[in-house]
Amino acid sequence: MTLLKIIKNNLFIQNFVTRLVLLNPIYLELGLAKYKSVKKAMLITANDGTSGSYLEFGVMTGNSFNFAMLVSKKLEKVFGKMDCEFIGFDSFQGFGEIKKNDVHPFYNDETFSVSEKKVLSNIKKKSKNQKYRIVKGFFKDTLENKTTIDYKIDKARVILIDCDLQEPTRLALEFVRPSIQEGTVIVFDDYNFFKGNRKKGEYAAFKEFKDKYPEISFRRVFDSGYNGRAFIACNLD
Ligand SMILES: C[S@@+](CC[C@H](N)C(=O)[O-])C[C@H]1O[C@@H](n2cnc3c(N)ncnc32)[C@H](O)[C@@H]1O
Repeated sequence: MTLLKIIKNNLFIQNFVTRLVLLNPIYLELGLAKYKSVKKAMLITANDGTSGSYLEFGVMTGNSFNFAMLVSKKLEKVFGKMDCEFIGFDSFQGFGEIKKNDVHPFYNDETFSVSEKKVLSNIKKKSKNQKYRIVKGFFKDTLENKTTIDYKIDKARVILIDCDLQEPTRLALEFVRPSIQEGTVIVFDDYNFFKGNRKKGEYAAFKEFKDKYPEISFRRVFDSGYNGRAFIACNLD
């Protein structure tokens, strides 16, 4: 009560704290939340001994991809060698054709186009002899009517869905289906965008996937940042 009294009589304290919070740039906060989700997913799977590949849909600058490789190296010091291959999928030119249901003011090709050459060279530098593959192209060319089997990917350890829209998420989930095993963690970075609309975005694609394949059960394992939610595949026969 005394603290409240002090604040009520000294509003500059409130103004100062507001300024402090605003000092933290929003994109840094979003980035940190993504790092945390990747770290948690890698740790959960390392702890459970869930081996397999790290698959990332939406690599862009390679931020989360490089971080996953880094975390894996650190975790191997605690849990032992995991023999994890890191595989990233991106056009490096944004979304390509955007379906009507996916139209959103922020998601456009201009915002998400990057210099592929720079990104690939940075990933190479950061990989430190870890096994990785980058599959370049629009998902309708690289993923549609294909599965992990076509890319000789056996099991998935962690799947990061960071392609923002419903259609690319749908393609990514169909693609990874055979690789999902008990213990695979799927992290959605943008689960709640599109004003919470249940018929849009990553949420809608995941709902459709769960309805189509009820034999795969998922349990929510954590939320992160503003928009992230992660699930673990469980009770698979
Ligand atoms: C939010 S960014 C990924 C950010 C990245 N994970 C990071 O942390 O730096 C989304 C990425 O998904 C890619 N993407 C979205 N839809 C795609 C599609 N249909 N085909 C290929 N790439 C796509 C975009 O090119 C973009 O680079």
